[in-house]
Amino acid sequence: MKVAMIGTGYVGLVSGACFSDFGHEVICVDKDEDKIARLNQGEIPIYEPGLEDLVAENVKAGRLSFTTNLTDAVPDADAVFIAVGTPSRRGDGFADLSYVFSAAEEIAASLKDYTLVVTKSTVPVGTGAEVEETIRLARPDFKPGVDFSVASNPEFLREGAAISDFKRPDRIVAGVEDERAQTTLKELYRPLFLNETPIVFTNRATSELIKYAANAFLATKITFINEMADLCEKVGANVQEVAKGIGLDGRIGAKFLHAGPGYGGSCFPKDTLALVRTAQQFDAPTKIVEAVVDINDNRKKAMAGRVKQAVGGSLKGKKIAILGLTFKPHTDDMRDSPSLDIIPMLLADGASICAHDPVGMEEARKHFTDSITYCDSAHDALKGADCAVIITEWDEYRALSSDRLKNLMAKPVLVDLRNIYAPELMAEDGIDYHSIGRPYIAPKA
Ligand SMILES: NC(=O)c1ccc[n+]([C@@H]2O[C@H](COP(=O)([O-])OP(=O)(O)OC[C@H]3O[C@@H](n4cnc5c(N)ncnc54)[C@H](O)[C@@H]3O)[C@@H](O)[C@H]2O)c1
Repeated sequence: MKVAMIGTGYVGLVSGACFSDFGHEVICVDKDEDKIARLNQGEIPIYEPGLEDLVAENVKAGRLSFTTNLTDAVPDADAVFIAVGTPSRRGDGFADLSYVFSAAEEIAASLKDYTLVVTKSTVPVGTGAEVEETIRLARPDFKPGVDFSVASNPEFLREGAAISDFKRPDRIVAGVEDERAQTTLKELYRPLFLNETPIVFTNRATSELIKYAANAFLATKITFINEMADLCEKVGANVQEVAKGIGLDGRIGAKFLHAGPGYGGSCFPKDTLALVRTAQQFDAPTKIVEAVVDINDNRKKAMAGRVKQAVGGSLKGKKIAILGLTFKPHTDDMRDSPSLDIIPMLLADGASICAHDPVGMEEARKHFTDSITYCDSAHDALKGADCAVIITEWDEYRALSSDRLKNLMAKPVLVDLRNIYAPELMAEDGIDYHSIGRPYIAPKA
């Protein structure tokens, strides 16, 4: 089948590359000329494990290409995916759908014969219907359900594991309003059908809501365990053991029960907020999700206080080593990363920051410019530091030697916001170690 992928970001590029790997002929479109120029030179503009090879193989096979010109891709396409960004709208937190509708208008102008238009972007309930209306108004000669269909096919991939998530998903959700849309989607995802991946066909509104409900539920799970961590700290309990103890219950499940600095990333913060706003608009407020949004915002801000406490109450003149800047490992994505809350607060309190991240430095520079020092390695960042803070649990931070910490740092104080070390071992090694929701053990002299 011929596929046009509008938006070549984390979702569009991965989806486009995977669809071409399934054997479809895919043209990825993006307005960002620099991004397309880099892709056309074989350069991948984002960090995503495995993506470079996948893109190269499919470009070589002639199934995958890139353009800034939507009219190169849409007229001949059987299916056009909208995978543009839907960030939070400034001021009110609703999803900003301007990119989606402008893409829909451009698509409408280029339609030639029957085409399935699919929103892969995360969009609020009712957006598919509005996209359909946009196309209908722009093209009175095109009848919905006959000359074109609009379907919803939200994406559940995780950055860092995006290719395997796309190719081996837990499920595919597809919202359709007519038979032809369903047939076309089945054909697009046929390789996964053959693998017996569950495909949930539903109506468009349900499909749109499933995506928000899934993200809100996962964000709630994280927030729940974060609150348990706070309680553990007060009562001398261990949150990792609490998570294990509840997670072994099949009704609860072990995933998304890692206490930490609060969720960030390109999806959970904006999607929880957008769900809250939609629910308020329809007079069916999601009180649980409202609380989750509020608790998580406050939590990220509270993390700087933990660092302050660990260095004795004042950050003035202290050198703080930051290990990890991205919102999670295996991505260069900085969107809503906890580091964006924590670092400015440390700076405002008079600390100087030496930061390291294995792949996120280029993105981080866009946010922190010259307010912090960028280090080539974790060891470089640790040199002379009064405290080290692990914000992102990159593998290379999991085996820092206590001796190196003691030798390199001015004081061996480690604030581990991801619980990747054992408090007993750290104390034994003489590290003043502070973690989340686990009892503090004073270091052996
Ligand atoms: N990133 C994730 O992990 C993830 C996971 C699941 C769902 N989603 C959802 O997928 C959507 C895309 O997210 P993303 O992270 O890939 O965004 P992104 O910001 O990385 O990419 C969006 C791309 O769309 C391009 N674009 C915008 N308007 C365009 C237009 N009219 N024509 C052509 N290109 C246009 C932008 O230049 C940009 O390159 C969002 O709705 C997001 O919520 C993201």
